[in-house]
Amino acid sequence: MIGFDSAHDRRGRPAAAQGRVALVGAGPGDPELLTRRGAMRLAQADLVLYDALVDVRVLDLAMSARRFCVGKRAGRPSVSQAAIIRLMIRAARRGQQVVRLKGGDPFVFGRGAEEALALSAADIPFEVVPGVTSAVAAAGLAGIPVTHRGTASAFLVLSGHAADTYEPLLRTFTPHSVTIVVMMGLRHVGHVAATLVAAGWASSTPAAVIAAASMPDATVETLTLGRLQRQRVRGHDGPVTVVIGDVVRLRTTLAPEAPEGASECGLRGVK
Ligand SMILES: C[S@@+](CC[C@H](N)C(=O)[O-])C[C@H]1O[C@@H](n2cnc3c(N)ncnc32)[C@H](O)[C@@H]1O
Repeated sequence: MIGFDSAHDRRGRPAAAQGRVALVGAGPGDPELLTRRGAMRLAQADLVLYDALVDVRVLDLAMSARRFCVGKRAGRPSVSQAAIIRLMIRAARRGQQVVRLKGGDPFVFGRGAEEALALSAADIPFEVVPGVTSAVAAAGLAGIPVTHRGTASAFLVLSGHAADTYEPLLRTFTPHSVTIVVMMGLRHVGHVAATLVAAGWASSTPAAVIAAASMPDATVETLTLGRLQRQRVRGHDGPVTVVIGDVVRLRTTLAPEAPEGASECGLRGVK
């Protein structure tokens, strides 16, 4: 069952007797990019299970909640998906208001659907609170629109891990007709670039490597598809999204002004 307003669960029991779970998208990092509904659910929460990278200022909105990080942190393994689901279900059955807080949007490479399906199967009332996905926000904050009339009429968001899925897809698009957004792909982006070049994209196609978008140490590096293919992209501390396509050229006009001290390839705190 989706939505907090419904008075009964799927089996007709009063929903109020049971706790509830909100799957909340926290946005790309900056707390100002959290939705108002997300902030409201955090304020109402008894328990918050959050992923790594969620800003402490977002967590501070959950004033009366117990908070547990269930994501990968400082090299420690994350809590298993099964354990997270068990924790949510157990707390909701005790009548608690649970927030499962995820980076970006819960349904974009966030395993949010798996959790929603498990809650549904367990008859736990739940709600999805969409978040600003970094698939679009990382580019936007760097002055890159993912679509632009006459330049890119669509965009494809892919996981760098999933070569079996993206390789045939990348071969079907007319070169340069779409924008490619690569998530979770720093180690694999060379292969994405090679696949595009093999499919007819020019080596001079611009690309942007955007790290820690919306966070204080955000960086943006622009390069070409050819370089992306040949060179290993250097390490970044924060999460990285790579945008490939002619829309990247718009950054020279649309990028927010770099504050003092920023280098020509970065917005802030370039390492
Ligand atoms: C597991 S996926 C989760 C995506 C998330 N659900 C969303 O909608 O943004 C994690 C990937 O999102 C991207 N990402 C998340 N936050 C980011 C940020 N602030 N800047 C750049 N990329 C980010 C990176 O590609 C990272 O590897």
